[in-house]
Amino acid sequence: MMKTSENIHPDKQQGLDIEEKLWTPGAITAAKALEEGGYLFETERAAILLQPVTEQIIRVKLMTAQELSFKTTIAVQQDVFCSVEGELVETEEAYHVKLPAASAVIHKHNACVDLYNQDGELVSSDVGLYSSARGKYGCRKQNEKDSHIYGLGEKTSFLDKAGEKYDMWNSDVFDPHVPEIECLYVSIPFFIHFNYDKAPYGIFLDNPGRTSFDFRSSEESYSFEVQSGELDYYFILGNTVKDIVSRYSSLTGRMDLPPAWAIGYHQSRYSYMSQDEVIALAHTFKEKQIPVDAIHLDIHYMDEYRVFTFDPIRFPQPRKMIEELNELGIRIVTIVDPGVKKDPDYKQYQAGILNDYFCKKLEGDLFFGDVWPGTSAFPDFTEEEIRQWWGEQHQYYTELGIHGIWNDMNEPAVFNTTKTMDLDVVHRNDGDPKTHGELHNLYGMLMSMATQQGLKQQLSGNRPFVLTRAGYAGVQKYAATWTGDNRSFWEHLAMSIPMVLNLGLSGQPFAGPDIGGFAHHASPELLARWTQAGVFFPYCRNHSVIDSIRQEPWAFGEEIEAICQSYIRMRYQFLPYIYTQFYEAHKTGLPIMRPLLLEYADDRNVYNLCDQFLVGTDLLVAPILRPSTTARAVYLPEGEWVDYWSGERYEGGKNILADAPLERLPLYIRAGAVVPNMISDAWKPQLNEEAAIKHIVYAATKGSQIKSQWYEDDANTYDYEQGSYNLLQFSTSFEQNSMSIDVSYVAKNLTKQRESIKVEIKELLFTPSQVMMYEHDVVGQCEWSYNAETRSIELVLPNHFDHAHITIS
Ligand code: GLC
Repeated sequence: MMKTSENIHPDKQQGLDIEEKLWTPGAITAAKALEEGGYLFETERAAILLQPVTEQIIRVKLMTAQELSFKTTIAVQQDVFCSVEGELVETEEAYHVKLPAASAVIHKHNACVDLYNQDGELVSSDVGLYSSARGKYGCRKQNEKDSHIYGLGEKTSFLDKAGEKYDMWNSDVFDPHVPEIECLYVSIPFFIHFNYDKAPYGIFLDNPGRTSFDFRSSEESYSFEVQSGELDYYFILGNTVKDIVSRYSSLTGRMDLPPAWAIGYHQSRYSYMSQDEVIALAHTFKEKQIPVDAIHLDIHYMDEYRVFTFDPIRFPQPRKMIEELNELGIRIVTIVDPGVKKDPDYKQYQAGILNDYFCKKLEGDLFFGDVWPGTSAFPDFTEEEIRQWWGEQHQYYTELGIHGIWNDMNEPAVFNTTKTMDLDVVHRNDGDPKTHGELHNLYGMLMSMATQQGLKQQLSGNRPFVLTRAGYAGVQKYAATWTGDNRSFWEHLAMSIPMVLNLGLSGQPFAGPDIGGFAHHASPELLARWTQAGVFFPYCRNHSVIDSIRQEPWAFGEEIEAICQSYIRMRYQFLPYIYTQFYEAHKTGLPIMRPLLLEYADDRNVYNLCDQFLVGTDLLVAPILRPSTTARAVYLPEGEWVDYWSGERYEGGKNILADAPLERLPLYIRAGAVVPNMISDAWKPQLNEEAAIKHIVYAATKGSQIKSQWYEDDANTYDYEQGSYNLLQFSTSFEQNSMSIDVSYVAKNLTKQRESIKVEIKELLFTPSQVMMYEHDVVGQCEWSYNAETRSIELVLPNHFDHAHITIS
């Protein structure tokens, strides 16, 4: 046979392989300040952008392509970039970028960056930039053995991620979520580096392809790598972990306030099979006096799993069903997956094809994947016009009275060998085409963005609710997340705490697991314990898989039902407090559910404490996480804490043994904090300007200026964006035989104001004989009554003050 050039194919040659040398950018050859801000360092093999975004956020981008691009992904808020004065100074060995609150030294011989903070302290030092294989770039930084790592979004294992290794690749994981699983549904490539002896810092690696973080392989250093695209990361400086979280969230955006109904209790099941079942379910909640704000419809509501349809046999009158539920004050949340059934008779499929809205290969072939509806096409959410179209489709739901959408399978999950979309699909990406491999982790978030924006347009000023399974950095702007297909395992109850805590530290405050566990079978005791813990998570939904034992609150008989009922009611009792924490998250980006580490960073006992948590600053929740357990150790941090059940007061800084019979969740309140409670016997207490609120304080034995705040608005519209809200601040001080409360409105803008503000101080340590109220030094009137038996005093403050000072002696 005739030989052709194929005979000298390079793959056939042996011994010619030159092992690729570890790539480095090489030495710096030129440096300049850029007109548009930032500094560009050209090296032998690359270019490096060092761009101050704010005084405390510095971007570093390694560029290896011929053409330099300073573009960021859609995750980054463009309005945070401000002009920061700086100076570029050259010395023999290095370039120094001097900024108002930091300085960076870029070494000439290897382009390594050392970062110093305002105090001149060396915060972080590069070991080097490198490439481990073609197209994979990484950065290795120095580390200390005793450093702790937080954040990294939705991951298994404990709070402190030191010693762990993870990848970021949105994945549909039905396998049990065990510590060795490196990827789940949400990818947030951001972490906080924390060491007791050094200033903390954060790193956000803005790359939505597969990225890797390795805190395991070396004790002296750690690394992060991208598998495609560019190495583009942000250093975030700060004095505290809170500073870092808050600044990170300014970079990727903060959440809107959710409607009140979205933070109530949600009930779900895969699936409630018919409209009759849904209506009966709603009535059962009412009969049993268990509050519920939302019922979720899983995939069986659809006509053969076609999104934007209702099954004509199971759900023949969706409007009637929704109206009936809305009359009860219950909202329906419908699941919407990204896969659009391949069916030429189906409106959305036709429109997607005719308008070229579905994901395609470069050569023009559509990408089809198998999901619930069978062969399906997937909208290309990376393109604005397509997001707009998708958002508009939701009119189908909003016209029926639906305000909430549940986005699932949006990693995207596909039933094939790779479990997702082909990596060589080319997304349009608003004029900057990129492969699916490069944008994978953005897909789900962009779907939620499209959904939220569509709903916002359609709901005439009412706030929508979007729940998503997949997400990327910045997902908090568009949706809440639940942590996917966990199991009814005690281990998963325990793991849900660090998982949601780290999501909170990664900018996503609105998250929670499936209460009771999704797969496998809940036991009565597990449901009781999980409900006790779950009602204190930011997102609170009970959900379970198709063939599992039922786990509605009443599924296990009267004893468990009574426990679930009382804890779900307790969520509503604390809802004004929880809602205030949502306001805080919206304003500052700080999490609602917090590890003790965030508040007590100097306390060496708490760096990996994650079997208990704080809600805001004033509630400490220590759930029972094992079966047949009726007591547990609880670590109380510095300060005074009061046992919610017994009123017993503890000095913090130590472990105590909490009594926890099945009906009791160990719960502690920070003494002196003013906690708004909603007091109501109604089946479903309604959080709005008319809710009956009582501010409850457990007296401290000592201490001054213990601060708290209470936020309220109409809890449903966007009027708060125009300033229509109240924000009331409290500061309490305690002495042996007296105490005082300072109450002042930072904002008092609601059109309808309450007549009075009610405050109850419990466990008073002295018998009061006089209460004085001063408004700007003028003596005012305030009703009060003392109950000697419970040692509590109730105050009724006439609500015409801006600032009042109350002394009790
Ligand atoms: C996925 C979701 C789960 C849902 C199921 C059916 O497994 O994670 O919550 O119930 O799909 O839609």
